[in-house]
Amino acid sequence: MKDLIKELTETYGPSGNEELIRNIIENKMKGLVDEMKTDTLGNLICIKKGKGAKVMLAAHMDEIGVVVNHIDKKGFLRFAAVGGVFPTYLLAHRVIFKNGIIGTFGKEEKGSTKGELKLEKMFIDIGAKDEKEASKYVHIGDVATYYRELDVLGSRLTAKAFDDRIGCAVLIETARKLKSSPNAVYFVFTVQEEVGLRGAKTSAYGIEPDIGIACDVTDTGDTPEAETMAVELGKGPCVKVKDRTIITPLKVKELMVSTAESKKIPYQLEILEWGGTDGGAIHLSRSGVPAGVISIPTRYVHTPSEVLDIADVENAVRLFVEILKKNLKKEGF
Ligand code: CO
Ligand code: ZN
Repeated sequence: MKDLIKELTETYGPSGNEELIRNIIENKMKGLVDEMKTDTLGNLICIKKGKGAKVMLAAHMDEIGVVVNHIDKKGFLRFAAVGGVFPTYLLAHRVIFKNGIIGTFGKEEKGSTKGELKLEKMFIDIGAKDEKEASKYVHIGDVATYYRELDVLGSRLTAKAFDDRIGCAVLIETARKLKSSPNAVYFVFTVQEEVGLRGAKTSAYGIEPDIGIACDVTDTGDTPEAETMAVELGKGPCVKVKDRTIITPLKVKELMVSTAESKKIPYQLEILEWGGTDGGAIHLSRSGVPAGVISIPTRYVHTPSEVLDIADVENAVRLFVEILKKNLKKEGF
């Protein structure tokens, strides 16, 4: 599974530019489902047909990035954020554009006080000598993402874009492991989560699921002086209780918890005070959908060096497979 995760995280795919990552995922899903389609916004919907409950699984393909909004006379690029980008996370790192052009960040030194850093005081240096040269390679509107390889740290991994390529990997692996299901399973690889859960919103509307489960990363509280959060790496995937976009319906939470307990899969309960994910958009679709989230504990989310534990990923796959093996219609969905 490490090779799959490596390939997915290292692929370029910021919000609104998901073609490359979608092509890769489409190839991986080929043969695992009965039908595949890409909808208007670009969500990849892979369907394993069945007569039972309609289950929508969602993981977002997009990652955060920066979009060029100005090129100056000397060839430096100014930029705006695509998703939750923080200045301190960018500085000293490299980014890559879709055409392979690589850049590094600089910041205005004059007049700035130490410690204070704002996106508008930063720029990207692609090595161009002037505006003319820069304009040969990069245009206004081009989006760059972190440029970083995956590394193995013992039982843990570090890479960019585990948010949410790890969710994509979990869904692909679930499709591989799931021999049969009494349910109709929709594996949905969504677009534009990082800018407001947009792909999940339209795909859920179109699918009209009986139950939705998203898979995404969540923060942890296990680093020095971390914010209070009872989530640690290696203690199992998380059953989300609440974040900024959803309070998981008890029925969905119970399904996840009872499945984990009966199959002896370790799990943790997650309350995320900041942020949300596709589950939030799915549960507000049409007249409401019972939805939840299974999260992968991840440190340093939205940095180029996010860290997670491979055991949590494997246990998330087990949990998804066991949930899908159940007849969810009989469970009341
Ligand atoms: Co994110
Ligand atoms: Zn995410």
